[in-house]
Amino acid sequence: MHTPVISGTGVFTPGETITNAELVQAFNAYAEAFNTEHATAIAAGEIEAKGPSSEDFIFKASGIEQRYVMNKSGVLDPAIMHPTLRQRTDDEPGIMAEMALDACQKALAQAGVDASEVDLVICAASNHERAYPAIAVEIQKLLGAGGFAFDMNVACSSATFGIQAAADMLRAGSARKALVVNPEICSGHLEWRDRDCHFIFGDVCTATLIERADEAKAPRFKIRSTRCATEFSNNIRNNNGFLRRTRTTGQDLDDRRDMQFMQEGRKVFKEVVPMVSAHILAHLEAEGVVPDALKRMWLHQANKSMNDFVGRKVLGRTPEAEEQPNILQDYANTSSAGSIIAFSQHQSNLAAGDIGVICSFGAGYSVGSVVVERL
Ligand code: COA
Repeated sequence: MHTPVISGTGVFTPGETITNAELVQAFNAYAEAFNTEHATAIAAGEIEAKGPSSEDFIFKASGIEQRYVMNKSGVLDPAIMHPTLRQRTDDEPGIMAEMALDACQKALAQAGVDASEVDLVICAASNHERAYPAIAVEIQKLLGAGGFAFDMNVACSSATFGIQAAADMLRAGSARKALVVNPEICSGHLEWRDRDCHFIFGDVCTATLIERADEAKAPRFKIRSTRCATEFSNNIRNNNGFLRRTRTTGQDLDDRRDMQFMQEGRKVFKEVVPMVSAHILAHLEAEGVVPDALKRMWLHQANKSMNDFVGRKVLGRTPEAEEQPNILQDYANTSSAGSIIAFSQHQSNLAAGDIGVICSFGAGYSVGSVVVERL
């Protein structure tokens, strides 16, 4: 059995940001136009008027201050309210593959690994821009990597589930150097006209290079163990799929509302927090690590209070900001990529022997944790 290590991470950050102030201004203009257009039906009680969004609510409820997006103008145009991304021809690189290439090249450079040495690419994300050929195979070709590649989707837990798959293959010898890449264009499956969730997501791509400990050259983290768990829930759901054509939810926006992100936010909060903290504690116990020995928690980045709860429950006290770093104030929820952004940006001051846990959670429900040790 070989020992897998993480020797490189890369983050592609889109060039455009949307602040809460910009977002709220666009939403409120849309809501006002909607209410004017439907004034008669609203007065007759047939349609509910749309209430305004607020910066204060967004920050207090989530901790989010801004988000990066692949297209700002479409999202902020009250007459459009979604990203307007040019449809590429089949002969051009896809947009997810292009984001992935940037993140992968950064991870490879950090690890000092040439793309030609990579023999496994997993594109693990919460949505893929097409059914096939796999985005991962396109990334493999653009990189000039060998071996094999495949896509997988475990929503917000895609990165940690992907790391488990890659680490297990490295241990078993079926792959030698793996890239787990998470291109997340969450702006494309967010309903920006829904006040309850329009502030939640942002776009980004992360990549993690995993190789055998005896081959790694760069500063690295040993993957001590991984643990994945799932439990079915409808509380975070997106019905988009190849068999779906018609509306099923009876919501007022249009006939595609249920083919985008939908959630029962309160239920998610209540149910996922205990699931995640119990999961991390059980994983640490099995690994023989007492919570006090944990130097860092790189958690999924959906909601600040949620992370504060998990951190308190795992450590038995309020974690120091450094122990449980958040990046969601800058990036918002970037689905599977969030914990990897946190890991990539907040690890440099750890010393040899320090132990941390990367943990993501979300739709499914799903929870994935990776216990790592700085070598
Ligand atoms: N601006 C102003 N008010 C808003 C608003 C907005 N953008 N969105 C909702 N509100 C209002 C609601 O209408 C509600 O009003 P009411 O009390 O008069 O009914 C009130 O604010 C509270 O809404 P609620 O949805 O209950 O807010 P919340 O405090 O539960 O926070 C979430 C909402 C989504 C931030 C929170 O539930 C959450 O983070 N859940 C987990 C999310 C998550 O991790 N999802 C996983 C995705 S991968």
